[in-house]
Amino acid sequence: MARRALITGITGQDGSYLAEHLLGLGYEVWGLARGQANPRVSRMRKLLSDVQVVRGDLLDQGSLISAVERVQPDEVYNLGAISFVPMSWEQAELTAEVTGMGVLRMLEAIRVCSGVSRGGSSSGQIRFYQASSSEMFGQVSETPQTERTAFHPRSPYGVAKAYGHFLTQNYRESYGMFAVSGILFNHESPRRGAEFVTRKVSLGAARIKLGLATELRLGNLEARRDWGFAGDYVKAMHLMVQSGRPEDYVIGTGRMKSVRELVEAAFAAAGLDWERYVVTDQALHRPAEVDLLCADPKKARAQLGWEPHVSFDELVAMMVDADLRLLSTGHDPDDGSWS
Ligand code: NAP
Ligand code: GDD
Repeated sequence: MARRALITGITGQDGSYLAEHLLGLGYEVWGLARGQANPRVSRMRKLLSDVQVVRGDLLDQGSLISAVERVQPDEVYNLGAISFVPMSWEQAELTAEVTGMGVLRMLEAIRVCSGVSRGGSSSGQIRFYQASSSEMFGQVSETPQTERTAFHPRSPYGVAKAYGHFLTQNYRESYGMFAVSGILFNHESPRRGAEFVTRKVSLGAARIKLGLATELRLGNLEARRDWGFAGDYVKAMHLMVQSGRPEDYVIGTGRMKSVRELVEAAFAAAGLDWERYVVTDQALHRPAEVDLLCADPKKARAQLGWEPHVSFDELVAMMVDADLRLLSTGHDPDDGSWS
Protein backbone atom coordinates (compact mmCIF):
# COMPACT_ATOMS: atom_id res chain seq x y z
CA MET A 1 0.00 0.00 0.00
CA ALA A 2 1.21 3.53 -0.78
CA ARG A 3 2.59 5.51 2.16
CA ARG A 4 0.40 8.46 3.07
CA ALA A 5 1.76 11.95 3.77
CA LEU A 6 -0.05 14.96 5.22
CA ILE A 7 1.53 18.34 4.42
CA THR A 8 0.57 21.60 6.16
CA GLY A 9 1.47 24.70 4.11
CA ILE A 10 0.52 22.89 0.88
CA THR A 11 -0.21 26.22 -0.90
CA GLY A 12 3.27 27.56 -0.15
CA GLN A 13 6.52 27.24 -2.09
CA ASP A 14 7.86 24.21 -0.21
CA GLY A 15 4.47 22.49 0.01
CA SER A 16 4.27 22.36 -3.79
CA TYR A 17 7.80 21.03 -4.30
CA LEU A 18 7.49 18.49 -1.48
CA ALA A 19 4.13 17.25 -2.80
CA GLU A 20 5.62 16.78 -6.28
CA HIS A 21 8.59 14.90 -4.83
CA LEU A 22 6.42 12.59 -2.70
CA LEU A 23 3.94 11.93 -5.53
CA GLY A 24 6.93 10.98 -7.70
CA LEU A 25 7.96 8.48 -5.02
CA GLY A 26 4.50 6.88 -5.09
CA TYR A 27 3.04 8.49 -1.95
CA GLU A 28 -0.62 9.33 -1.45
CA VAL A 29 -0.35 13.04 -0.66
CA TRP A 30 -2.82 15.11 1.36
CA GLY A 31 -2.54 18.86 1.87
CA LEU A 32 -4.01 20.74 4.82
CA ALA A 33 -5.55 24.00 3.60
CA ARG A 34 -7.31 26.74 5.53
CA GLY A 35 -10.18 29.12 4.79
CA GLN A 36 -13.53 28.61 3.13
CA ALA A 37 -12.56 30.07 -0.27
CA ASN A 38 -8.78 30.26 -0.36
CA PRO A 39 -7.71 31.23 -3.92
CA ARG A 40 -4.28 29.70 -3.34
CA VAL A 41 -5.94 26.28 -2.97
CA SER A 42 -7.40 26.42 -6.50
CA ARG A 43 -4.03 27.57 -7.86
CA MET A 44 -2.34 24.67 -6.06
CA ARG A 45 -4.91 22.18 -7.42
CA LYS A 46 -4.08 23.29 -10.98
CA LEU A 47 -0.39 22.62 -10.40
CA LEU A 48 -0.85 19.45 -8.32
CA SER A 49 -4.05 17.73 -9.37
CA ASP A 50 -3.15 14.50 -7.54
CA VAL A 51 -2.97 16.11 -4.09
CA GLN A 52 -6.05 15.55 -1.93
CA VAL A 53 -7.13 18.44 0.26
CA VAL A 54 -8.29 18.30 3.86
CA ARG A 55 -9.50 21.44 5.62
CA GLY A 56 -7.74 22.64 8.73
CA ASP A 57 -5.98 25.54 10.37
CA LEU A 58 -2.93 25.60 12.64
CA LEU A 59 -4.94 27.95 14.88
CA ASP A 60 -7.64 25.32 15.45
CA GLN A 61 -6.73 22.23 17.49
CA GLY A 62 -9.94 20.35 16.68
CA SER A 63 -9.44 20.78 12.94
CA LEU A 64 -5.96 19.24 13.16
CA ILE A 65 -7.23 16.25 15.13
CA SER A 66 -10.01 15.75 12.55
CA ALA A 67 -7.48 16.00 9.70
CA VAL A 68 -5.16 13.40 11.23
CA GLU A 69 -8.13 11.09 12.00
CA ARG A 70 -9.39 11.39 8.43
CA VAL A 71 -6.08 11.06 6.57
CA GLN A 72 -4.43 8.47 8.87
CA PRO A 73 -0.99 9.61 7.66
CA ASP A 74 2.28 7.71 7.98
CA GLU A 75 4.18 11.00 7.81
CA VAL A 76 3.24 14.60 8.68
CA TYR A 77 5.27 17.53 7.31
CA ASN A 78 4.50 20.76 9.18
CA LEU A 79 5.39 23.49 6.69
CA GLY A 80 2.52 25.86 7.52
CA ALA A 81 3.59 29.16 9.10
CA ILE A 82 3.55 32.89 8.87
CA SER A 83 6.93 32.86 7.19
CA PHE A 84 7.68 36.46 6.21
CA VAL A 85 9.99 37.94 8.83
CA PRO A 86 8.84 41.63 8.60
CA MET A 87 5.22 40.59 9.15
CA SER A 88 6.23 39.03 12.46
CA TRP A 89 6.93 42.47 14.01
CA GLU A 90 3.60 43.85 12.81
CA GLN A 91 1.59 40.77 13.87
CA ALA A 92 3.75 39.26 16.59
CA GLU A 93 0.93 37.53 18.45
CA LEU A 94 -0.51 35.94 15.31
CA THR A 95 2.99 34.79 14.36
CA ALA A 96 3.43 33.19 17.79
CA GLU A 97 0.07 31.46 17.42
CA VAL A 98 0.57 30.08 13.90
CA THR A 99 4.34 29.59 13.63
CA GLY A 100 4.93 28.65 17.29
CA MET A 101 1.75 27.30 18.90
CA GLY A 102 0.74 25.70 15.59
CA VAL A 103 3.57 23.21 16.13
CA LEU A 104 2.21 22.30 19.56
CA ARG A 105 -1.29 21.80 18.11
CA MET A 106 0.00 19.57 15.30
CA LEU A 107 2.13 17.47 17.68
CA GLU A 108 -0.82 17.12 20.06
CA ALA A 109 -3.09 16.04 17.20
CA ILE A 110 -0.60 13.30 16.31
CA ARG A 111 -0.07 12.30 19.94
CA VAL A 112 -3.80 12.06 20.70
CA CYS A 113 -4.69 10.27 17.44
CA SER A 114 -1.93 7.70 17.75
CA GLY A 115 -2.51 7.11 21.47
CA VAL A 116 1.09 7.93 22.41
CA SER A 117 1.84 8.14 26.12
CA ARG A 118 4.93 9.21 28.06
CA GLY A 119 7.94 6.97 27.57
CA GLY A 120 6.42 5.43 24.41
CA SER A 121 8.51 4.13 21.55
CA SER A 122 8.80 5.62 18.06
CA SER A 123 8.19 2.37 16.17
CA GLY A 124 4.99 2.16 14.12
CA GLN A 125 4.04 5.77 14.88
CA ILE A 126 3.25 8.72 12.65
CA ARG A 127 6.56 10.37 11.72
CA PHE A 128 6.67 14.18 12.12
CA TYR A 129 8.79 16.78 10.30
CA GLN A 130 9.03 20.36 11.59
CA ALA A 131 10.15 23.19 9.29
CA SER A 132 12.71 24.87 11.54
CA SER A 133 14.73 27.82 10.27
CA SER A 134 18.20 29.34 10.20
CA GLU A 135 16.48 32.50 11.50
CA MET A 136 16.76 30.83 14.93
CA PHE A 137 20.54 31.48 14.80
CA GLY A 138 19.82 35.20 14.29
CA GLN A 139 22.79 37.13 15.67
CA VAL A 140 25.19 34.31 14.98
CA SER A 141 27.73 33.19 17.57
CA GLU A 142 29.87 31.32 15.03
CA THR A 143 30.15 30.82 11.24
CA PRO A 144 29.24 28.50 9.64
CA GLN A 145 26.28 27.39 11.76
CA THR A 146 25.85 23.73 12.72
CA GLU A 147 23.26 21.68 14.62
CA ARG A 148 25.09 22.70 17.81
CA THR A 149 25.26 26.48 17.25
CA ALA A 150 23.39 28.50 19.92
CA PHE A 151 20.16 30.29 18.99
CA HIS A 152 19.81 34.08 19.25
CA PRO A 153 16.67 34.88 17.23
CA ARG A 154 16.26 38.50 16.08
CA SER A 155 12.56 38.59 15.15
CA PRO A 156 9.26 37.38 16.61
CA TYR A 157 9.30 34.88 13.72
CA GLY A 158 12.70 33.51 14.81
CA VAL A 159 11.49 33.26 18.41
CA ALA A 160 8.34 31.38 17.35
CA LYS A 161 10.44 28.97 15.25
CA ALA A 162 12.77 28.36 18.21
CA TYR A 163 9.74 27.42 20.33
CA GLY A 164 8.55 24.97 17.66
CA HIS A 165 12.04 23.54 17.35
CA PHE A 166 12.49 22.89 21.08
CA LEU A 167 8.96 21.55 21.37
CA THR A 168 9.62 19.02 18.58
CA GLN A 169 12.74 17.89 20.45
CA ASN A 170 10.75 17.73 23.66
CA TYR A 171 7.98 15.53 22.19
CA ARG A 172 10.68 13.21 20.87
CA GLU A 173 12.25 13.00 24.33
CA SER A 174 9.02 12.97 26.38
CA TYR A 175 6.90 10.62 24.28
CA GLY A 176 9.44 8.78 22.13
CA MET A 177 7.77 10.25 19.04
CA PHE A 178 9.59 10.12 15.71
CA ALA A 179 9.79 13.91 15.45
CA VAL A 180 12.57 15.71 13.58
CA SER A 181 13.40 19.29 12.65
CA GLY A 182 15.19 20.43 9.52
CA ILE A 183 17.04 23.70 10.20
CA LEU A 184 16.75 25.01 6.66
CA PHE A 185 18.63 28.01 5.34
CA ASN A 186 16.99 30.29 2.74
CA HIS A 187 15.73 28.40 -0.29
CA GLU A 188 14.11 29.93 -3.30
CA SER A 189 12.54 29.16 -6.68
CA PRO A 190 10.27 30.63 -9.35
CA ARG A 191 7.41 29.72 -6.93
CA ARG A 192 8.81 31.91 -4.13
CA GLY A 193 6.42 34.52 -2.70
CA ALA A 194 6.93 37.96 -4.30
CA GLU A 195 7.59 39.55 -0.88
CA PHE A 196 10.90 37.71 -0.31
CA VAL A 197 14.03 39.42 -1.57
CA THR A 198 15.12 36.91 -4.26
CA ARG A 199 11.74 36.96 -6.00
CA LYS A 200 11.35 40.70 -5.49
CA VAL A 201 14.67 41.13 -7.28
CA SER A 202 13.96 38.62 -10.09
CA LEU A 203 10.55 40.21 -10.70
CA GLY A 204 12.04 43.70 -10.45
CA ALA A 205 14.77 42.97 -13.01
CA ALA A 206 12.26 41.31 -15.35
CA ARG A 207 9.77 44.22 -15.06
CA ILE A 208 12.50 46.76 -15.87
CA LYS A 209 13.77 44.66 -18.78
CA LEU A 210 10.25 44.54 -20.26
CA GLY A 211 9.62 48.26 -19.73
CA LEU A 212 7.02 47.62 -16.99
CA ALA A 213 8.95 49.48 -14.26
CA THR A 214 11.77 52.00 -14.00
CA GLU A 215 13.26 51.28 -10.57
CA LEU A 216 13.47 48.69 -7.77
CA ARG A 217 13.37 49.78 -4.10
CA LEU A 218 15.23 47.59 -1.62
CA GLY A 219 16.34 47.66 2.01
CA ASN A 220 19.67 46.42 3.37
CA LEU A 221 21.98 45.38 0.51
CA GLU A 222 24.75 44.21 2.85
CA ALA A 223 22.86 41.32 4.53
CA ARG A 224 24.30 37.93 3.56
CA ARG A 225 22.39 34.70 3.17
CA ASP A 226 23.06 31.08 2.19
CA TRP A 227 20.63 30.73 -0.73
CA GLY A 228 19.73 27.35 -2.30
CA PHE A 229 17.02 25.87 -4.54
CA ALA A 230 13.76 24.75 -2.86
CA GLY A 231 13.52 21.66 -5.11
CA ASP A 232 16.77 20.36 -3.60
CA TYR A 233 15.76 21.14 -0.01
CA VAL A 234 12.43 19.26 0.08
CA LYS A 235 14.38 16.07 -0.71
CA ALA A 236 16.29 16.58 2.54
CA MET A 237 12.97 16.81 4.44
CA HIS A 238 11.93 13.42 3.12
CA LEU A 239 15.33 11.82 3.80
CA MET A 240 15.25 13.00 7.45
CA VAL A 241 11.88 11.37 7.95
CA GLN A 242 13.13 8.05 6.49
CA SER A 243 16.27 7.87 8.63
CA GLY A 244 16.78 5.14 11.22
CA ARG A 245 16.89 7.55 14.17
CA PRO A 246 15.00 10.85 14.67
CA GLU A 247 17.59 13.65 14.63
CA ASP A 248 17.77 17.31 13.56
CA TYR A 249 19.79 18.48 10.55
CA VAL A 250 21.14 21.75 9.16
CA ILE A 251 20.38 22.10 5.42
CA GLY A 252 22.10 24.70 3.25
CA THR A 253 24.80 25.12 0.62
CA GLY A 254 27.66 26.37 2.84
CA ARG A 255 28.10 29.45 0.59
CA MET A 256 27.04 33.02 1.37
CA LYS A 257 26.15 35.87 -0.95
CA SER A 258 25.05 39.44 -0.14
CA VAL A 259 21.80 41.01 -1.31
CA ARG A 260 24.04 43.30 -3.41
CA GLU A 261 25.56 40.24 -5.15
CA LEU A 262 22.07 38.82 -5.68
CA VAL A 263 20.99 42.07 -7.35
CA GLU A 264 24.11 42.17 -9.54
CA ALA A 265 23.56 38.56 -10.67
CA ALA A 266 19.83 39.00 -11.38
CA PHE A 267 20.21 42.25 -13.35
CA ALA A 268 23.15 40.76 -15.29
CA ALA A 269 20.97 37.74 -16.13
CA ALA A 270 18.42 40.19 -17.58
CA GLY A 271 21.20 42.05 -19.45
CA LEU A 272 20.93 45.17 -17.23
CA ASP A 273 23.31 47.29 -15.11
CA TRP A 274 21.71 47.22 -11.64
CA GLU A 275 23.24 50.50 -10.49
CA ARG A 276 21.03 52.43 -12.91
CA TYR A 277 17.81 51.07 -11.40
CA VAL A 278 18.15 50.02 -7.74
CA VAL A 279 17.22 52.51 -5.03
CA THR A 280 17.70 51.81 -1.32
CA ASP A 281 14.99 52.77 1.10
CA GLN A 282 15.52 53.07 4.88
CA ALA A 283 11.84 52.14 5.43
CA LEU A 284 12.63 48.61 4.18
CA HIS A 285 15.34 48.02 6.81
CA ARG A 286 14.33 45.76 9.73
CA PRO A 287 14.18 46.74 13.42
CA ALA A 288 16.77 44.03 14.13
CA GLU A 289 18.64 42.51 11.19
CA VAL A 290 20.21 39.08 10.78
CA ASP A 291 23.49 40.16 9.18
CA LEU A 292 24.68 36.80 7.92
CA LEU A 293 23.72 33.16 7.74
CA CYS A 294 25.88 30.34 6.40
CA ALA A 295 25.22 26.61 6.84
CA ASP A 296 27.59 23.81 7.66
CA PRO A 297 25.61 20.92 6.09
CA LYS A 298 28.26 18.23 6.83
CA LYS A 299 25.98 16.13 9.02
CA ALA A 300 23.26 15.93 6.34
CA ARG A 301 25.85 14.99 3.73
CA ALA A 302 27.40 12.28 5.90
CA GLN A 303 24.25 10.76 7.42
CA LEU A 304 21.56 11.39 4.78
CA GLY A 305 23.70 11.50 1.65
CA TRP A 306 22.03 14.85 0.87
CA GLU A 307 23.63 17.61 -1.15
CA PRO A 308 22.37 20.59 -3.14
CA HIS A 309 22.60 20.46 -6.94
CA VAL A 310 21.60 23.95 -8.11
CA SER A 311 24.23 26.71 -7.70
CA PHE A 312 23.48 30.32 -6.74
CA ASP A 313 24.06 31.56 -10.31
CA GLU A 314 21.85 28.82 -11.77
CA LEU A 315 19.11 29.64 -9.24
CA VAL A 316 19.14 33.36 -10.01
CA ALA A 317 19.12 32.72 -13.78
CA MET A 318 16.24 30.22 -13.35
CA MET A 319 14.18 32.81 -11.42
CA VAL A 320 14.85 35.71 -13.80
CA ASP A 321 14.08 33.55 -16.86
CA ALA A 322 10.84 32.33 -15.30
CA ASP A 323 9.76 35.89 -14.43
CA LEU A 324 10.59 37.20 -17.90
CA ARG A 325 8.38 34.44 -19.33
CA LEU A 326 5.60 35.01 -16.79
CA LEU A 327 5.45 38.78 -17.26
CA SER A 328 5.52 38.36 -21.05
CA THR A 329 2.22 36.48 -20.76
CA GLY A 330 0.63 39.45 -19.00
CA HIS A 331 0.64 37.99 -15.47
CA ASP A 332 2.27 40.04 -12.72
CA PRO A 333 2.18 38.60 -9.19
CA ASP A 334 1.25 41.23 -6.64
CA ASP A 335 3.96 41.85 -4.07
CA GLY A 336 1.44 43.58 -1.82
CA SER A 337 2.37 46.25 0.67
CA TRP A 338 4.94 44.15 2.51
CA SER A 339 7.72 44.44 -0.05
P1 NAP B 1 5.29 30.02 2.37
O1 NAP B 1 5.41 29.93 0.89
O2 NAP B 1 5.12 31.36 3.01
O3 NAP B 1 4.05 29.08 2.80
C1 NAP B 1 3.49 29.16 4.08
C2 NAP B 1 2.29 28.23 4.14
O4 NAP B 1 1.73 28.30 5.46
C3 NAP B 1 1.16 28.59 3.15
O5 NAP B 1 0.72 27.41 2.54
C4 NAP B 1 0.08 29.15 4.06
O6 NAP B 1 -1.23 28.90 3.60
C5 NAP B 1 0.33 28.31 5.31
N1 NAP B 1 -0.33 28.88 6.50
C6 NAP B 1 -0.28 30.15 6.94
N2 NAP B 1 -1.05 30.31 8.03
C7 NAP B 1 -1.63 29.09 8.26
C8 NAP B 1 -2.55 28.61 9.23
N3 NAP B 1 -3.06 29.42 10.18
N4 NAP B 1 -2.91 27.31 9.18
C9 NAP B 1 -2.43 26.49 8.22
N5 NAP B 1 -1.57 26.89 7.26
C10 NAP B 1 -1.17 28.18 7.29
O7 NAP B 1 6.55 29.32 3.08
P2 NAP B 1 7.67 28.34 2.45
O8 NAP B 1 8.77 29.17 1.91
O9 NAP B 1 7.00 27.31 1.63
O10 NAP B 1 8.24 27.68 3.79
C11 NAP B 1 7.67 26.49 4.33
C12 NAP B 1 8.03 26.40 5.81
O11 NAP B 1 9.45 26.38 5.96
C13 NAP B 1 7.55 27.57 6.66
O12 NAP B 1 7.24 27.05 7.93
C14 NAP B 1 8.77 28.48 6.76
O13 NAP B 1 8.70 29.25 7.94
C15 NAP B 1 9.87 27.44 6.82
N6 NAP B 1 11.17 27.85 6.29
C16 NAP B 1 11.26 28.38 5.04
C17 NAP B 1 12.51 28.70 4.54
C18 NAP B 1 12.66 29.28 3.15
O14 NAP B 1 13.74 29.82 2.86
N7 NAP B 1 11.68 29.14 2.28
C19 NAP B 1 13.65 28.50 5.33
C20 NAP B 1 13.51 27.94 6.60
C21 NAP B 1 12.26 27.61 7.07
P3 NAP B 1 -2.22 30.02 2.98
O15 NAP B 1 -2.12 29.85 1.51
O16 NAP B 1 -3.57 29.62 3.50
O17 NAP B 1 -1.76 31.35 3.47
N1 GDD C 1 12.06 40.87 1.79
C1 GDD C 1 12.99 41.81 1.55
N2 GDD C 1 12.63 42.91 0.82
N3 GDD C 1 14.23 41.65 2.05
C2 GDD C 1 15.15 42.59 1.79
C3 GDD C 1 14.86 43.72 1.03
C4 GDD C 1 13.53 43.90 0.53
O1 GDD C 1 13.20 44.89 -0.12
N4 GDD C 1 15.99 44.47 0.93
C5 GDD C 1 16.94 43.83 1.60
N5 GDD C 1 16.44 42.69 2.14
C6 GDD C 1 17.19 41.75 3.00
C7 GDD C 1 16.51 41.50 4.34
O2 GDD C 1 16.78 42.60 5.23
C8 GDD C 1 17.18 40.20 4.75
O3 GDD C 1 18.41 40.47 5.37
C9 GDD C 1 17.44 39.49 3.40
O4 GDD C 1 17.23 40.48 2.38
C10 GDD C 1 16.54 38.29 3.14
O5 GDD C 1 15.19 38.66 3.32
P1 GDD C 1 13.97 37.70 2.92
O6 GDD C 1 14.11 37.26 1.52
O7 GDD C 1 12.72 38.40 3.31
O8 GDD C 1 14.23 36.38 3.78
P2 GDD C 1 14.63 36.16 5.32
O9 GDD C 1 16.07 35.76 5.35
O10 GDD C 1 14.22 37.29 6.17
O11 GDD C 1 13.71 34.93 5.73
C11 GDD C 1 13.55 33.79 4.85
O12 GDD C 1 14.51 32.82 5.18
C12 GDD C 1 14.36 32.24 6.49
C13 GDD C 1 15.51 31.22 6.67
O13 GDD C 1 16.68 31.89 7.03
C14 GDD C 1 12.13 33.28 5.01
O14 GDD C 1 11.86 32.30 4.04
C15 GDD C 1 11.90 32.68 6.38
O15 GDD C 1 10.61 32.06 6.45
C16 GDD C 1 13.00 31.61 6.60
O16 GDD C 1 12.84 31.00 7.85
